[in-house]
Amino acid sequence: MKKILCIVGSPRRTGGCQALVRKVVETCEELGAEAQVYSVYDMDFRGCVACMACKTGSEECVLRDDLTPVLRAMKEADILILASPIYFGDVTGEFKKAIDRMYSLMTPEYLTGGNPSRLAPGKKCLFITTQGYPGEDRFGGPLETYGGFLGPGWFGYEMHFLRGLGLRAPSDASVNPELMGQAEELARKLMA
Ligand SMILES: Cc1cc2nc3c(=O)[nH]c(=O)nc-3n(C[C@H](O)[C@H](O)[C@H](O)COP(=O)(O)O)c2cc1C
Repeated sequence: MKKILCIVGSPRRTGGCQALVRKVVETCEELGAEAQVYSVYDMDFRGCVACMACKTGSEECVLRDDLTPVLRAMKEADILILASPIYFGDVTGEFKKAIDRMYSLMTPEYLTGGNPSRLAPGKKCLFITTQGYPGEDRFGGPLETYGGFLGPGWFGYEMHFLRGLGLRAPSDASVNPELMGQAEELARKLMA
């Protein structure tokens, strides 16, 4: 059975990110996956403190808080789903804290040309962003930036992306059949 790990970076419990993640998860579960969903705004954790323990002897982040089981679950999961609203052109602050802690999933050899990833190969990642601005021409930067780190050459995920555009009210995503259809289609690709 495929294991799915979701990390949701919106403070809104019934917003666009949650609706899109729910759609992807429901579709994957119908196809036989099991999913764990974490919401960073419900968790108590710190950002990376640059102690470098994960590069000087420890195989994992030495901070012990609510993010510890999530980072461990990233090693187990076949599919990672990340979702964040765009705030001032970037992911939300709490979500960025979680991304920074993923530094512990990079090996000490990442700067000297060795394998940079502590994750097993063959994993897939779906990166979802939601934004109020309706066009594709603005605020795509975070997908490029974080997708670049998560993808081949660094963490090693096969990357997939979904952008919810022009979403302002919490329910705007769930009443958009085209967007929800894209979420379902991507779920099928992740499970293929
Ligand atoms: C503090 C804050 C900053 C925002 N900054 C942007 C932005 O830079 N660009 C944009 O298009 N939308 C921006 N938005 C709108 C949200 O990205 C948008 O409403 C999103 O769909 C919310 O997702 P959610 O329902 O999953 O929380 C901002 C909203 C807030 C509260």
